[in-house]
Amino acid sequence: MKSILGIGNALTDILAILPDDTLLKKYHLPLGSMQHVDMETGDRIWSALKEVGVKYVPGGSAANTITCTSIFGMPSGYIGKIGDDELGQLFKSTMEQFGVKTTMLHSEKSSGRCMVFITGANAERTFADYMGAALEMGPEDLKPEFFEGYDYFHIEGYLVQNQDLIAKAVQMAKAAGCIISIDMASYNVVESNNAFLHNLVDKYVDIVFANESESRAFTKKEGSQDGLRELAKHCDIAVVKEGKNGSWVKSGEEEHYIPAWPAVPVDGTGAGDTYAAGFLYAHSLGLPLKTCGEIGSIIAAKVVEVVGTKIDVPRWRDAKLEIKDLIAKVNG
Ligand SMILES: Nc1ncnc2c1ncn2[C@@H]1O[C@H](COP(=O)(O)OP(=O)(O)OP(=O)(O)O)[C@@H](O)[C@H]1O
Ligand SMILES: [Mg+2]
Repeated sequence: MKSILGIGNALTDILAILPDDTLLKKYHLPLGSMQHVDMETGDRIWSALKEVGVKYVPGGSAANTITCTSIFGMPSGYIGKIGDDELGQLFKSTMEQFGVKTTMLHSEKSSGRCMVFITGANAERTFADYMGAALEMGPEDLKPEFFEGYDYFHIEGYLVQNQDLIAKAVQMAKAAGCIISIDMASYNVVESNNAFLHNLVDKYVDIVFANESESRAFTKKEGSQDGLRELAKHCDIAVVKEGKNGSWVKSGEEEHYIPAWPAVPVDGTGAGDTYAAGFLYAHSLGLPLKTCGEIGSIIAAKVVEVVGTKIDVPRWRDAKLEIKDLIAKVNG
């Protein structure tokens, strides 16, 4: 089985169900907003939330993808940076419980987190993000041996805020012989790092995952198919995702539209990360391009049926059966 290494912002979601909006008022958080907070505020909010009871869910885009490739059975590794605190330890041990080999770097700052205040009858969500240790990861942290033995290297686009880090990482990954993939993360990430991303994709990246708005920001083309065709000029494999409308994949002259797999959606969180995991797993098995897209779609259809990013055991079992059937048909 081929192996995969991911790199990303090691962030933990801290969810708290609150009886009223007292804490929102206290920390000046408008209902439904997302705000960045400094370390002091981030630590104060965390302490306050702990008193009312919290749920911790380690995440971050690449971490979600890598957890999923590990559950597929690929030897999977992860590089991220945490603080010297319980949240960092929780992040590391949770990744390891899923079989991921972690390379956790350490910072003086406290661990990154996304604090989610759940309030009101409609369970409205208000976010306070503290990136902390995650933002401290730099090129000087990377060592060639981190990459040795891996076949794939997957990058989350959110990391391009630190261009030197990405530049060093892809050089090391290429030197180690890895196939390099990137998930574009969000259209504003693409817009504010356009020149850097173009250079990165042209020189280093083999597989690009983008949703419609990220594709538009990168290619300046309207529409998924035009975006896909432009994107495919810059990499070996281009993927453009359209949520419940499915996805497009293209490599050279080969192009496929992949309908979404049937699902009863309750929460779209993690669809993109999970799709990437399924796609890369299938690619590592040497399956045809279309099948890679289909396997991405099967597993993404499971994560939209659960709240959060962790697919439950019955759905994992269903996905693995559906994928086994699909592969049997392909190998016909
Ligand atoms: N409602 C849905 N039903 C079935 N499949 C879905 C649904 N939403 C998303 N998917 C699957 O997940 C894939 C990726 O979703 P999407 O296009 O939302 O990516 P994304 O915008 O990168 O997601 P994310 O918000 O997680 O970053 C889709 O191409 C589709 O196969
Ligand atoms: Mg995405």
